[in-house]
Amino acid sequence: MDRLDGPPRLILVTDLDCTLVDHDDPENTDLLRFNALWEAHYRHDSLLVYSTGRSMRSYLSLRNKKPLLTPDIAITSVGSEIAYGGEESMVSDDVWVARMGEMWNREIVLEETSKFPELEPQPVKSQEEHKVSFFVGREHAVEIMKVLPGRLLERGVDVKLVYSNDYAFDVLPKGSGKGGALTYLLEKLESEGKQPCNILVCGDSGNDAELFNIPQAYGVMVSNSHKELLQWHEENAKDNPKIILASERCGAGMIEALQRFNLGPSVSPRDVLDTENFHVEVLDPAHEVVQFYLLYEKWRRGEVEKSDKYLQNLKSLSSPLGMFVHPSGVEKLIHEWIDDLDNLHGEEGKEKQFRVWLDRVSSSLISPETWIVKFDKHELSVLFVLGCIQMEKYGHVRRESY
Ligand code: GLC
Ligand code: MG
Repeated sequence: MDRLDGPPRLILVTDLDCTLVDHDDPENTDLLRFNALWEAHYRHDSLLVYSTGRSMRSYLSLRNKKPLLTPDIAITSVGSEIAYGGEESMVSDDVWVARMGEMWNREIVLEETSKFPELEPQPVKSQEEHKVSFFVGREHAVEIMKVLPGRLLERGVDVKLVYSNDYAFDVLPKGSGKGGALTYLLEKLESEGKQPCNILVCGDSGNDAELFNIPQAYGVMVSNSHKELLQWHEENAKDNPKIILASERCGAGMIEALQRFNLGPSVSPRDVLDTENFHVEVLDPAHEVVQFYLLYEKWRRGEVEKSDKYLQNLKSLSSPLGMFVHPSGVEKLIHEWIDDLDNLHGEEGKEKQFRVWLDRVSSSLISPETWIVKFDKHELSVLFVLGCIQMEKYGHVRRESY
């Protein structure tokens, strides 16, 4: 949260499975569209928050499989854990951990829940200190929800029960849940004088319902939302004009919400890339670097013919003095680097699976004529059955003469 000096323009809070991540799309089309939009137009002044039912471990393993950007904040285990920053510098919120421990006792939860034979424990990897999870059908879940909280309260344990997808039943400390964690984060931001201008929450199933209860928030239920969320909406939030059901699935539905609520740019650079004609009206370094790599991707995939005009086009995006600084420290003129692309053209669609996405793009003006743009570049290529995600950190210096 300290990355931004002032209040975020937007705080976008999204569930992962079946919201940002479409498991039915092996190409990750909408996720990649969202990524390019976020890095080009939002990263510099907004906050990205993932809010998932997955444990931290399981979330990190998803990140190894899917092209997920680095969020500013990761809320995991259905709101019972909060961590800030990227993997290499992730810091857990100890105040939140302490709060989760109030009126909570895992042993007592295990003892009382064991009295319901219908509750089938989820695998050990889905159990956490402040989350005890089961599988159970809806009818039984409804009955258990009526009696379990009272029984636990008699023993000094105050819980929140969350039921999702017609099978997942989570027992959590009272103040947690995705809504509890977001409320806590918003209070924290406010106490730091960083109240966001806008909040957008995005979800698809039962454990997301609480997110749509945050009074100031805009909300989008993606078109593939589970009927339990739609029913919750019908019963609890039908008259709230700030909550919509998208007409599009997953990431596309999220982009649709940015547009419908007028929360900022809503056209992904992936949708408007003009390979013939690069055109920079107002210099926006983050946007330019994103576009630059999209054209590079098309070249590598063989989606544009092998013609010098595309390389010239790429050159037109950078000044002849622009430098690449590779993570190894090696520096090279951007124009020389582009010349080297000549033999990387993916003729005949040989590299059809090749994808590039940028993460954590940041830019700063270090002199009236010089920008430094820093970013992580990820590449996904599939060679036969072997898939790999490569990551490189670049400092991309662009010298611009006005
Ligand atoms: C995720 C978690 C699971 C939880 C479910 C619903 O799938 O892995 O433990 O029950 O979300 O919150
Ligand atoms: Mg989901």
